[in-house]
Amino acid sequence: MSATPDAFEIGRRLAARHRSLEERPKEFELLGRSWDLLPGVFAPVWTTSTEVFSAWLPYPPGGSFLEIGSGTGVTAVMAALSGCAQVTAVDITEPAVRNTRLNTARHHVADRVRVLRGDLFDALGGDDRFDMIFWNSNVVEAPERFAYEDDIQPAIFDPGYAAHARYLRHGPRHLTEEGRLLLGFNSLGNLDRLNRLAAERGLRTVTRHSVSRRAGDFAVDFLLLEFLRFE
Ligand SMILES: C[S@@+](CC[C@H](N)C(=O)[O-])C[C@H]1O[C@@H](n2cnc3c(N)ncnc32)[C@H](O)[C@@H]1O
Repeated sequence: MSATPDAFEIGRRLAARHRSLEERPKEFELLGRSWDLLPGVFAPVWTTSTEVFSAWLPYPPGGSFLEIGSGTGVTAVMAALSGCAQVTAVDITEPAVRNTRLNTARHHVADRVRVLRGDLFDALGGDDRFDMIFWNSNVVEAPERFAYEDDIQPAIFDPGYAAHARYLRHGPRHLTEEGRLLLGFNSLGNLDRLNRLAAERGLRTVTRHSVSRRAGDFAVDFLLLEFLRFE
């Protein structure tokens, strides 16, 4: 019997799949709509995460929504189409930013979706506040010195969980008074470490939704998490 690969090895295989141009469509269907897909962008056709999180999110009606790591832009566009008045989509890679812009134009929501390139919250103004912040994050923990070699690896790997630590440190500062901080996570991630990082910031982790599905060839549990202040 062959050994089950560990999360890092599965992450490597998933990255190869998302990077490969073989069988990769230039367009895909999701949530009843057609979307552009550029090379070098996390592909919602090879995982269920984009679909389940975009469908589960309780988008604030008439409110403001920040998506960190927008990739193709599906979630940001769905937020705008679901009634958010202002959406900001941020991604760290140039192809993802371009892909998000293509899909906001394709679905006629460019007037209310601002697309920025940046590292987590760095491209925002210090006073920017949102009713909801969400990231379908790069859950696979990589060694601290792991250096990204392409545009896909940042979608899968977080060296030393440093980006998750910064998300929990800076995210709460960008929330409105009633604002909600959410994370799309899955069982390839280190939930114990995430919970410890949250606790260091005075936050507890609550699971809002979960489902067992597949990411590529692997069975994965997808979790929509929310971080709440300890009372
Ligand atoms: C798992 S993918 C999700 C993409 C898209 N939201 C979706 O659901 O299809 C994670 C995304 O986060 C982006 N990302 C990774 N680190 C980031 C950072 N520090 N700041 C902003 N975006 C980041 C990646 O480039 C990638 O597009």
